[in-house]
Amino acid sequence: STYDLLVVGSANADLVVAVDRRPGAGETVLGSDLVVHPGGKGANQAVAAARLGARTALLARVGDDGHGQLLRTSMESSGVDTSGVLVGGAPTGVALITVDPSGDNSIVVSPGANGRLTPDDVRAARELFAAAPVVSTLLEIPLDTVAEVARSLADGARLVLNPSPPAPLPDEVLAVCDPLIVNEHEAKVILGTEPGPDPEEWARQLLALGPRSVVITLGAEGALVADADGSERVASVKVKAVDTTGAGDAFTAALAWRLGTGERLADAAAYAARVGAAAVTKEGAQASYPTADEVATL
Ligand code: RIB
Ligand code: NA
Repeated sequence: STYDLLVVGSANADLVVAVDRRPGAGETVLGSDLVVHPGGKGANQAVAAARLGARTALLARVGDDGHGQLLRTSMESSGVDTSGVLVGGAPTGVALITVDPSGDNSIVVSPGANGRLTPDDVRAARELFAAAPVVSTLLEIPLDTVAEVARSLADGARLVLNPSPPAPLPDEVLAVCDPLIVNEHEAKVILGTEPGPDPEEWARQLLALGPRSVVITLGAEGALVADADGSERVASVKVKAVDTTGAGDAFTAALAWRLGTGERLADAAAYAARVGAAAVTKEGAQASYPTADEVATL
């Protein structure tokens, strides 16, 4: 096939301010100078995969504006095929991000053009779907667009879904996820209940909803991968966190790419954990993603 990975997702300009602490309701705090980074969970995944060497295309929508240009430049300089990046309909999506001294972030997303990526746009991208053995998507685009992605997979193609930001998923989407990638918070929303203390149990409950496989990311505890054959733990990689923004997107992209090369789920997740770890050691999302050589020397 022409591509290793097709990402269908969002592209945002990330407006980032470092703060000593986040303001509460009705409160004002002063932060750092503003930095504008290319971001968005879809564009992030596409750049992460391309930088690792995967032949990657992105189906997304940006506005006809400077933020859209910033994203295009980042993607093209990383080698992402942007022939599926549509323009217009609304301003480019924006993410308002604060990063605290521990490297943790809080994000408010204004979807803008991402909210105008329609099922028709998916149907019109038939050629991209035909050329991709793995498709990865997420929930910063409309849910009916995600459902159309699930219906548009080429024969034998697999869907990787990180339901972020989390929302309950229709059965037809859950049924084709291979894997569904969630953290604890996302697992809770997908399950619709508080998932007890045992990640093995969350995995069983999630698998019962229909996905062919599940990856649960557990922060410092690593990850748990599970499918009908059983479950396996994957260790985390310890690094000093500078900025965790977009590390999950790098994890998902790396995992999706490695699965497409035929790697076992646990091995793909172990590699992805190294990619995610590299990403937290630098500022920004796309700006922090490693090459394959940098992963090898981590
Ligand atoms: O996952 C990180 C991303 O979430 C940021 O780049 C921001 O754009 C939001 O979409
Ligand atoms: Na980062």
